[in-house]
Amino acid sequence: MNDPAAEFQHETVLLKEAVDALAVKNDGFYIDATFGRGGHSSLILSRLNKSGCLLLIDKDPQAIAYAKEKYKKDARVVVWQGSFKDFPRALEQLEINRKPDGLLLDLGVSSPQLDDASRGFSFQRDGELDMRMNPEVGESAAEWINVAEEKEIADVLWQFGEERFARRIARSIVKKRVLSPIETTLHLANIIAGAIPKAKQKKGKNPATKSFQAIRIFINKELDDLEGCLQRSIHSLAQHGRIVIISFHSLEDRMVKRFLKDKSTRAKLPRGLPIMDSQLDEWQKKNGMPAVVFEIIGKPVKASVQEIAVNARSRSAIMRTGEKIA
Ligand SMILES: C[S@@+](CC[C@H](N)C(=O)[O-])C[C@H]1O[C@@H](n2cnc3c(N)ncnc32)[C@H](O)[C@@H]1O
Repeated sequence: MNDPAAEFQHETVLLKEAVDALAVKNDGFYIDATFGRGGHSSLILSRLNKSGCLLLIDKDPQAIAYAKEKYKKDARVVVWQGSFKDFPRALEQLEINRKPDGLLLDLGVSSPQLDDASRGFSFQRDGELDMRMNPEVGESAAEWINVAEEKEIADVLWQFGEERFARRIARSIVKKRVLSPIETTLHLANIIAGAIPKAKQKKGKNPATKSFQAIRIFINKELDDLEGCLQRSIHSLAQHGRIVIISFHSLEDRMVKRFLKDKSTRAKLPRGLPIMDSQLDEWQKKNGMPAVVFEIIGKPVKASVQEIAVNARSRSAIMRTGEKIA
């Protein structure tokens, strides 16, 4: 096998914090739903005994090939390629008749994806403009950007990148792609840089940063996948199962925060209502209020100063944990 991990490494973010938050039981069943290069998986496995089980999910064929090779002799490990939003389908297909005791999401892209120019994620290395986590499925960034309407491009850059020059950039993309189709990452990065006034460009930050992030989120339907996964965890996690999510983008974190808050908030009861604590959930359901499904565990966790010093990517990470209680 061509071993991509030998060439491109991923520095795992919040390694111990995330695995501690899963509260791994040594005979439990866990899902690392964003395997990458398995930093979190290795630590989870070190806490499982022979009866434990770990399901590894990733969309990326290189990550999957790496996982299959690495764990081919470990009977506790099962590997599945697909979106984490479909984790209940993975359980069905693999005939795992057990609900997971923990689900870990370490969102975004891995360093191997970013560092390999041919994957088309990077504005620093020239490569075919692709950006798909699974290059065998769906539309590439180049396919989209060469046909999308100006308004759609502007909306994507604004909505997923909060890029204040979204309209100017979209106008420039549409003008320039008539001259020659945008096929490479540097071609797109140069168009974006040219559309943002020099005086407004931040020193030390590539002007294409926000736009590339926005296009990647759009192409991979990252927010839809996250919402789908959170919703499915309501029914598909075991009692006292934990969901641990590491986000790198404010839109993701907002979604996770809102989900956990909505699913853990007890209604304020009218004063003097003659019901007991044990009847609260039933009363809440009967009155059309969302059921309390999760308990929020601890405060949001950020990377330590020491971690940020050795891994700059961890700077924007924020981790939240919920435990299923109903
Ligand atoms: C930040 S990396 C995870 C790194 C990993 N925790 C480690 O220590 O090596 C994110 C990984 O999740 C995968 N991924 C992102 N969104 C996904 C989704 N919706 N479904 C499945 N995999 C996804 C990416 O392909 C990438 O390999």
